[in-house]
Amino acid sequence: SAAEKGGYDYFMLKEIAEQPKAVADTLLGRIGADGRLTLDEIRIPDRALREADKIVIVGCGTAFHAGLIAKYAIEHWTRIPCEVELASEFRYRDPILDRRTLVVAISQSGETMDTLMALRHAREQGSRVLAICNTNGSTIPRESDAVLYTHAGPEVAVASTKAFLTQLVACYLVALYLGQVRQTKWGDEIGAVVRQLADSGRLVEQVLHTMEPVRELARSLADARSVLFLGRHVGYPVALEGALKLKELAYMHAEGFAAGELKHGPIALIEDGLPVVVVVPSPQGRSVLHDKIVSNIQEVRARGARTIVVAEEGDTAVEPYADHLIRVPAVPTLLQPLVATVPLQVFACELATAKGHEVDQPRNLAKSVTVE
Ligand code: G6P
Repeated sequence: SAAEKGGYDYFMLKEIAEQPKAVADTLLGRIGADGRLTLDEIRIPDRALREADKIVIVGCGTAFHAGLIAKYAIEHWTRIPCEVELASEFRYRDPILDRRTLVVAISQSGETMDTLMALRHAREQGSRVLAICNTNGSTIPRESDAVLYTHAGPEVAVASTKAFLTQLVACYLVALYLGQVRQTKWGDEIGAVVRQLADSGRLVEQVLHTMEPVRELARSLADARSVLFLGRHVGYPVALEGALKLKELAYMHAEGFAAGELKHGPIALIEDGLPVVVVVPSPQGRSVLHDKIVSNIQEVRARGARTIVVAEEGDTAVEPYADHLIRVPAVPTLLQPLVATVPLQVFACELATAKGHEVDQPRNLAKSVTVE
């Protein structure tokens, strides 16, 4: 009913708008004033967390994309090797697991059968499983050793939005917590990361206030046949998520690529007028990657692409090559997905609506897939 949608036409719009609160709620009580993390729910003994020599993340769809981003944060912040795998592929290849492997199962619903079967397999091999889940008391957390709940509130629209952002928050918290327990030697970087993470609800809010041009752009592209998404580093999974949203909602050919792969194949797809969305890493710190992506934007544009550039405030280097520029607040590199994903959600939702699609219930899809 209209009341359930809180005045919005679709649940998806409501859920996109709820993201600042979902993010803030997921952070609530977990970061102290001194910057230390308290994750009491992780009822895995500190000793086991210290001894873990490998982390394996499993999930499906959007949750898998959250896992891909988590890998960058976990390996960079904790130096623990981390693998990410589609839950549906995991157990069938006889993965190497033992009691020193920490498996992280990410699932909004907590009922996805592929993810459940992956975690059962891991526990049979003696690994400990930590679930990141949005649904209290659902099967995946019940069958895991511990659970860190995302507090996104109920997500009704089939395409995940607020659950994704809170999964990212939970992954960052787990990564930082592991570093804390293992007394990882951190430089100055971590203080700034924790402060910005604590404030990320407000940053998401800021992005939401600037979305009108993105909606306008989306409407103008309703007849596009295909859209490509490019990203690097954590921007690569963001590109995959942007493309997934467009497939799910607009039933349009959309693909995400690692920008570095462009020259190894995807550049052959570029033709006149093809919309290419590029997620640009911050020019600060990892400036090498930034420069490389700016070259990629030039390359696709020289071949006729219509470039839609998602870049940090103040990044002037991209301006000459951006047909459309979408600004996001400057945040530490690893946190950029929290702000860069939002315009891509809005873009897909608006484009699908312009095509006349029912965004809450895309054809052929289910919110929770309880068969393998
Ligand atoms: C379905 C939904 C996706 C979701 C995936 C994983 O395919 O359509 O939006 O990302 O399941 O769901 P989960 O509940 O495990 O996060």
